[in-house]
Amino acid sequence: MRPKLLVARAMFPDLLSRLTPYFDLEINQEDRIFTEDELIERLHGKFGMICTSSAKISSSLLQRLKSINDDLKIISTIAVGYDNFDIASCTENRVMATNSPDVLNETTADFAWALMMATARRVTEAEAFLRDGEWKKWSVDFFLGADIHGSTLGILGMGRIGQAIARRAAGFGMQVIYHNRQRLDPDIELKAHCAEYVDRETLFSASDHLILALPFTPEVRHSIGVAEISRMKRSATLINIARGGIVDEDVLIDALRTGQIAGAGLDVFENEPNFNRAFLDLKNVVLTPHIASASEQTRRAMVSQAINNVIAAVKGEIPPNLINRQALHLGFEQN
Ligand code: GLV
Ligand code: GLV
Repeated sequence: MRPKLLVARAMFPDLLSRLTPYFDLEINQEDRIFTEDELIERLHGKFGMICTSSAKISSSLLQRLKSINDDLKIISTIAVGYDNFDIASCTENRVMATNSPDVLNETTADFAWALMMATARRVTEAEAFLRDGEWKKWSVDFFLGADIHGSTLGILGMGRIGQAIARRAAGFGMQVIYHNRQRLDPDIELKAHCAEYVDRETLFSASDHLILALPFTPEVRHSIGVAEISRMKRSATLINIARGGIVDEDVLIDALRTGQIAGAGLDVFENEPNFNRAFLDLKNVVLTPHIASASEQTRRAMVSQAINNVIAAVKGEIPPNLINRQALHLGFEQN
């Protein structure tokens, strides 16, 4: 009997067909997000799962699952971020966790720029005005926004996506500053990424446009709050393509309402898809439903990576995008 694989959300059937020689597939055709109880039930007896960030794999889920059944070897997410997986618990329970990094860097950087430009130049607000039939006359001073060219771009989180965002700034004559837990090699900062390292306080106070591109961990939850936002310029915009939970959304909403900052471009929210509806009452925001990596080519590449990871695992090979190597060690040595 072939090992069983759960595909937690249906997607690109032509790509999923690559799995059929290796697995008995159970594909969630309902396009509904499973609850923890449903996930446990579906994962029972499965070798692995391909899922998205919507599938929360908590320590309680893994413990409950492992107490009834020990088959699960790999969970493979179609995302670079894996904050929905409790990695320590995966390792403890000998479950390999994999993600789909790198192939999305350029596409995600493109989108960060799209959000930044739409926010600074009030593109969606102006479109809503036009669609609503409000355009009765043109004015010299209407929908005045902020310039991108010649301004200072701040990047918090200078990983592969942050670097791809920075590289794009050269054509706009921007000054790029960044902060990261670890400073990049000073020799390559400027040469490769045209970016200059600054401390965290300076990043908030000096940026005209600040883009968040850091991974979510419990330590960064709500790490952008009153202290950070009050340091920003009143003319500044905040762009988030990372994870919503990094920002204290109540503080941000207040700052946008009172004009403490000029605008925000948000692709991610603390509670997706049940995001804070107070954002909808604001005009100075551009809001998108977590689509920064959503180009046809990139999403297909990400799904292919997720597939490659489970196929490697079932062949007894090391999955190319393994996050927790200790699980591999334990799994392969003790099984
Ligand atoms: C699961 O429920 C998913 O979204 O992958
Ligand atoms: C998307 O948010 C991802 O982590 O790939």
